[in-house]
Amino acid sequence: MRGVVCYYSGSGNTRLACEHLAARVGIDLDLVDVVDDAKVDLASYDVVGLAAPTDFGGMPQRFETFIDGLPQQQGKPVFLLNTFGFMSGRTLRDMADLATSRGFEVLGGHSLRMPEDYPPMIAIRLGFAGQPTRGGVRAFDTFIDGLASTLGALQRDEAVARRPIRIGLLSAASRTRARTAAREDMGDKSVDAELCTECGLCEQRCPYRAITLSPKPVFDMGACYGCWRCYNQCPQHAIYTARFRGGPYYPGPSRRTRETLEA
Ligand SMILES: Cc1cc2nc3c(=O)[nH]c(=O)nc-3n(C[C@H](O)[C@H](O)[C@H](O)COP(=O)(O)O)c2cc1C
Repeated sequence: MRGVVCYYSGSGNTRLACEHLAARVGIDLDLVDVVDDAKVDLASYDVVGLAAPTDFGGMPQRFETFIDGLPQQQGKPVFLLNTFGFMSGRTLRDMADLATSRGFEVLGGHSLRMPEDYPPMIAIRLGFAGQPTRGGVRAFDTFIDGLASTLGALQRDEAVARRPIRIGLLSAASRTRARTAAREDMGDKSVDAELCTECGLCEQRCPYRAITLSPKPVFDMGACYGCWRCYNQCPQHAIYTARFRGGPYYPGPSRRTRETLEA
């Protein structure tokens, strides 16, 4: 059995969670970044995973566009993975609804708490750098082990138990914000011309192609979805907003986070 996980990962948290799942689930699993390779041929895989972080209570716009653009799947089995910092809200349920609308058969899904990569939360000391906890990883492993036995049953052509998507009461009561809310919340971006070395990383890494180097970055705020990737990942910390300049930043999963998920 061969599987593929199509993931979106702004800072690397979701990618790390996918690597942990791939190492444990017991089948060959390719990992494909939807930003790099939006045209993956799902027909050559027996099972698909869809993985994304929570972004303002829902899926990142880029990830939603990817799933929306997939051909109808005629019952292809799919599992879902979400990472979040503070509250995943309706993300997992939205993912399940969207996947179902594309013809996937949802086997189950899991939300894993990870550190926040959203600078305004880090600024108010809600960065959750200690996530995931060992308990969080254990719950994730229980999900992966259940998924492994479901995939085993699928391989043997046995009936499989679908695990319902469960989200907490608070998450269920929350609402998914407009996909433009993060952009509005972030406000206009600027670049410190003295710090910027015109390396082009921001242009390369922008999931929305909303940055053009000319020769310094020029921001198209109509195309930006406020993911903070350019701000967080500029090697010179040259990119800033009206409210945030010089930090805080989330450069990616720390060694502690990596070790917790490797253990
Ligand atoms: C623009 C933005 C919005 C976010 N919104 C939420 C949110 O509504 N709820 C939450 O729990 N985490 C939120 N987060 C935190 C991320 O979901 C979390 O840090 C995730 O693990 C990041 O995964 P990634 O590195 O794969 O992108 C947000 C992060 C960003 C950058």
